[in-house]
Amino acid sequence: MIERDRLRRVYLVGFMGAGKTSVGECLARELHYGFADLDREIERDAGRTIAEIFREDGEGVFRPLEARALRIVGARTDLVVGTGGGTLTLWENRDFIHRTGVSVWLDAPLDVMLERCRSSEHRPLLSDRPKMEALLSDRLPSYRLSDLRVDAGSQPPEMLAARIASMLAGLR
Ligand code: S3P
Repeated sequence: MIERDRLRRVYLVGFMGAGKTSVGECLARELHYGFADLDREIERDAGRTIAEIFREDGEGVFRPLEARALRIVGARTDLVVGTGGGTLTLWENRDFIHRTGVSVWLDAPLDVMLERCRSSEHRPLLSDRPKMEALLSDRLPSYRLSDLRVDAGSQPPEMLAARIASMLAGLR
């Protein structure tokens, strides 16, 4: 059983290309919640794109901006949050997500996620397959700590969102 208040924030987590934004938008509609995409919040606050932040200042500057944006969106309720693929790498973020909401890991095969990112130009950490495989395996332990896991490899976002909504209803 999850405390009622935590069900008012749903954090979608998972690797780049897992579908956090597309599923998150559908899930928000399904739950009648708002939707916030963490990367878009960071860009709006910083007045720069994620790619510009990485290029000009590096990941060392990006991560604190991300942690700050997480705390700002996490102050809202009745909200689905699409996190970034690396948000859970900081334990402070993992702790914040765990205390304030329910985390749902969108798990998909690496090749599916890479295929979805293929035409992406705004993901500065996107690299060749061996590097992505290493990054994913570094991150798997933190994704595995999520409250819920869904197989996000093949179903369309609407179906996944409906599935997650019924899993969440089961936690009430
Ligand atoms: C990152 C993933 C990106 C974005 C940034 C860093 C990562 O978000 O936050 O480029 O570390 O995996 P998506 O997972 O939405 O692509």
